[in-house]
Amino acid sequence: MMNMQTSYLNLNLKNPIIVASSGLTKSADKIIACEEAGAAAVVVKSLFEETLAQEEWGAAGHAEAYEYLRAELGKQYGPRDYCALLEAAKKKVTIPVIASINCVSDKWWPDYARQMEASGADALELNVYALPTDPSQRPGEAEQIYVDILVAVKARVKIPVALKIGRYFSNLTHLAAVLGRAGLDGLVLFNRFADLDMDVDKMQLQTSFTFSHEKEYHEALRWIALLSGKVSCDLAATTGIHTGVEVIKMLLAGARAVQIASLFYQKGLGQIRPMLEEIEAWMKRQQCENLSDCIGKLSFVNSQTPEIYLRSQFMEKIRGWD
Ligand SMILES: Cc1cc2nc3c(=O)[nH]c(=O)nc-3n(C[C@H](O)[C@H](O)[C@H](O)COP(=O)(O)O)c2cc1C
Repeated sequence: MMNMQTSYLNLNLKNPIIVASSGLTKSADKIIACEEAGAAAVVVKSLFEETLAQEEWGAAGHAEAYEYLRAELGKQYGPRDYCALLEAAKKKVTIPVIASINCVSDKWWPDYARQMEASGADALELNVYALPTDPSQRPGEAEQIYVDILVAVKARVKIPVALKIGRYFSNLTHLAAVLGRAGLDGLVLFNRFADLDMDVDKMQLQTSFTFSHEKEYHEALRWIALLSGKVSCDLAATTGIHTGVEVIKMLLAGARAVQIASLFYQKGLGQIRPMLEEIEAWMKRQQCENLSDCIGKLSFVNSQTPEIYLRSQFMEKIRGWD
């Protein structure tokens, strides 16, 4: 019997497949379905910072009073529905349940993190999306917000904290190292965002969202491999993972787990078992008894040909097309 266990955020996972934060994890019943389908853990649909602000206190009013109210009331009441969901899910499943907050600041909400911990969350994933739009802001200043958010949350909870981030940073390797020193437990690469579009007849802006497709995993693969062994936190991969082989690739690059949404939306949670079978068949071929032994085997620091990770320009020689 092959052993597919892995450890991520100090949590023992029976296999590396986590159902990513999405509508697939937005209720206790859906989380039960994830467990029944064979998922090793779930990240619950994010609680959005903006929603919290609007729903609980209304966005109108005096800015200063509003800030104060948010801070004070937030401490007392917190995100009730979200905590109730965590409590209900924790009673019904044995797999780890990771709470998620989508945030853009460290201003007033980090006390919610403590309430999520109290509600039984096994870990917390912060889905941070701070788009730098101010030309006078230096890259380091724009990236400091990620560190500030992490530090504010780590000061309030004991459960492991992961950050789920996008792909555009001036030096992701540096940021990841700084976050690791600030106590980050896990880094999830890379989040996938809605696209901006336009309706040219109505002269209006739009956002559109499409599910990922199979070839979208390469960027996460490269960066997981580049960071593996260089940062102190665990790495998890998300975006474009659609097959068991792609799960294996992420592990070989250095990920301890993967987070999948699009595939399960499109083809159902029933995809988990065939993926696990694909991984098991590969382990047999490789005579690998413990999947965790494979983590990072082809990472930048362990690969025999690390320079390939650095090549992204088209070179005919690489493909033998000259
Ligand atoms: C319908 C949908 C809703 C999502 N909602 C969230 C969310 O609330 N919070 C979050 O961090 N990620 C959210 N995501 C992103 C997923 O968690 C995942 O990281 C991303 O879709 C990439 O994985 P995939 O290629 O397997 O879809 C959502 C994705 C989808 C498809």
